[in-house]
Amino acid sequence: MSMNENGKSASPVTLASIREMKARGEKFTCLTAYDATFARIFDAAGVEVLLVGDSLGMVIQGRETTLPVTLDEMIYHTACVSRARKRALIMADMPFMSDARPHEALRNAARLMAEGGAHMVKIEGGAVMAETIQRLDARGIPVCAHLGLLPQSVHKIGGYRVQGRDGPSARRILEDAATLTAAGADMLLLECVPATLADEIVASVKVPVIGIGASAACDAQVLVCYDMLGLTPGPRPRFCENFLAGRDTIQAAVQDYVRAVKTGRFPASEHLYT
Ligand code: KIV
Repeated sequence: MSMNENGKSASPVTLASIREMKARGEKFTCLTAYDATFARIFDAAGVEVLLVGDSLGMVIQGRETTLPVTLDEMIYHTACVSRARKRALIMADMPFMSDARPHEALRNAARLMAEGGAHMVKIEGGAVMAETIQRLDARGIPVCAHLGLLPQSVHKIGGYRVQGRDGPSARRILEDAATLTAAGADMLLLECVPATLADEIVASVKVPVIGIGASAACDAQVLVCYDMLGLTPGPRPRFCENFLAGRDTIQAAVQDYVRAVKTGRFPASEHLYT
């Protein structure tokens, strides 16, 4: 059993404990992590889920999109994070097309877990991913289904834009949420959708829902760690806040993020979409 920064004992976070938090109405927190140093800080601050996101292609590797990130690179960064982890649950992204065929997805998810130390994988895509999620679920691999803005589809959608703003696309995302949870998805992540749509999805599924630019009704929030530390160049996205502004240390910024999510202070309406 590990200790948190308050010296209290802290049991490891599991899918079961996340479900219990949801049942109690207690919010949980998620941050991206790509290396041992940040993972150690986030874990000690009480972040429940460390997401080894394929956003590392952009924020670590300096690429324009997440598409070139390889499975081996994801395994390398997941292993870096898992060596530092004491308590948090580690979720790793399946990189672009590593989940295109169910049998390959099973093999690749198994590598993220066995070699990288992930506890759970995240898969981008709608109903088309149902068969893959079913296959992983049947073999005991927990899956988070990522809906809404899908960065791996950036060239198809023509940029990083809010999704589900018109009736047909909102209905499709709502139906995808139902299809993928029926297929066995253990969590959903909703990225950049109107808050009313996110509210409807949260109310319609039983699994925990993580939001980013989605809704305050989500069971958890996630941010890219460099964004919430104000390190990403360019205009800050609407869904983000610079938690380092006015604070002296990264530790204090992350503790404030955890507090803000748990008390419902973040996200506020200014971080959400209509
Ligand atoms: O790759 C990533 O960091 C993500 C988050 C933006 C949710 O998927």
